[in-house]
Amino acid sequence: MPIVAKNLQRAVELYLACAYPDGVPASVQGKAGPVMALEAEALAPVELFERSEGGGEGSYVLRLGQPMYPFMKLVIDPVPEQGTVSPTSYLLRADAHDRHLHAPAGSPDAAWLASVRVSNRDLVEKIEAAWAKAGLPTFKEYLRAKLAARRAKKEGGGDKVARGQGGRGTGERIAARKAELGERLVILGHHYQCDEVVGFVDVLGDSFQLAREAAKLTRAEYVVFCGVYFMAESADVLTGDHQKVILPDLDAGCSMADMAKIDDVQRAWGVINEACADIDGFKLVPITYINSSAAIKAFVGEHGGTVCTSSNCEKILAWAMDQKPKAQGLQSLGLSRKVLFFPDQHLGRNTAYKMSWPLESMVVWDYTQPRGGLSDEEIRKATFILWKGCCSVHQVFRAEHVDQARAKWPGVRVIVHPECCFEVVQKADLSGSTDLIGKTIAASPAGSKWAVGTEINMVRRLAKLHPDKQIELLGECECLCPTMARVDPARLLWVLDNLAERQVVNQVVVGEDVKRWARVSLQRMLDITK
Ligand code: 13P
Ligand code: SF4
Repeated sequence: MPIVAKNLQRAVELYLACAYPDGVPASVQGKAGPVMALEAEALAPVELFERSEGGGEGSYVLRLGQPMYPFMKLVIDPVPEQGTVSPTSYLLRADAHDRHLHAPAGSPDAAWLASVRVSNRDLVEKIEAAWAKAGLPTFKEYLRAKLAARRAKKEGGGDKVARGQGGRGTGERIAARKAELGERLVILGHHYQCDEVVGFVDVLGDSFQLAREAAKLTRAEYVVFCGVYFMAESADVLTGDHQKVILPDLDAGCSMADMAKIDDVQRAWGVINEACADIDGFKLVPITYINSSAAIKAFVGEHGGTVCTSSNCEKILAWAMDQKPKAQGLQSLGLSRKVLFFPDQHLGRNTAYKMSWPLESMVVWDYTQPRGGLSDEEIRKATFILWKGCCSVHQVFRAEHVDQARAKWPGVRVIVHPECCFEVVQKADLSGSTDLIGKTIAASPAGSKWAVGTEINMVRRLAKLHPDKQIELLGECECLCPTMARVDPARLLWVLDNLAERQVVNQVVVGEDVKRWARVSLQRMLDITK
């Protein structure tokens, strides 16, 4: 027996908003339409669903897919203790349905499959986070609650839990542990962390500020990084051997960073260099956004390039182009100097365009395609070769959200992060790093109206910090970064409890061979942007 229509409609609506930010294709609309047409209080009829594999009493499936992969599905499962779905008792799950696919290693299919898996995994996280936030029951939350209850029981019924706010007393216990660890501990936190974590960080900042801060820390024995994996890796590269960097949840990755794999980058490097070998004075400069693995940073360091962040990308690109005056552009460089920019095509395009480089000087390297999907001619003509990566959070903002904000809210100013797509950045009044967004809004006069296109935790915090201004999220996007959200007070307390016992858990360690060159590229960035 399926569920009450209005709950299903909300679940479908959120799924589609996450999966199809650029518009729902007609084929998918055909499946969602009958659901949306139901009376809110009616029960969704079973004919609307596929039954899950195995048939029998069990799960109900709506195969809504995603742009790269049509087999992904919305699943309604029974609560395990009950065995059957009832109108008011059920659990939602997004199922990528890609577990059984295999492709021979090194084949084009393998590259395609890998990128589909990354995209599916991110989307599943995003959809389930959106459901949980909307108060819909998800299988993941059910499992988390079960695990937390089991752990609490094992630990003697105390208020320790594996995740979430951590129950009563967590804040006091974190504060007590911080006091106990004193100067041996520094907690760094990114703007996208939730308020409950931000309340305990010693330094809150954007990716650049946090990297610079890590490089300055010499005394702290432990650096707890409330952010994502690539940030903790950078901190490990920039801190001394006597210091340990800890990430409260080792699964806090970054979908964008996962889009540039070292093998793919090495392959691209070879192809581009080969295609341009006979261009007089040819030089390819690799620039990686800090949102990338340490292995990628090492590659860049070893090949004469550097790292950039959203706050210094312009300076870094100017450095890469050898500080040539913008206006001379292509002519002065005679196409001999090219930048291979990864993983975020949007940051690369938005920044190069801002520096007066025309869109025609840029091509996109599709790492899922042989030779990046480009002809030798296209490669030779380009000045910027942009990796086809993106942020799953910022790609939900669309140009029409800017139009809608302006129509609904006369006088509003729109400010967005440069990980948003070109059209959004072009329509916005301003774009910049999380630090720039925060500072711009802080400096605006009372009564200012802002629609902000970045991660929801930061937008909510800005609204709280500036009650004299009107600050809203751009569009009505569910733009929570699911990996940043993995770090929560309970996990923070857990690592601090262990440190107090002199046990280091969740340490992030970059191997010495990678560290050597990754340090070169990060230090180069710090030197250029001093
Ligand atoms: P900044 O911290 O550079 O603004 O970037 C935002 C981001 O996506 C971090 O992953
Ligand atoms: Fe990665 Fe985007 Fe999250 Fe930043 S916001 S950590 S780029 S997924």
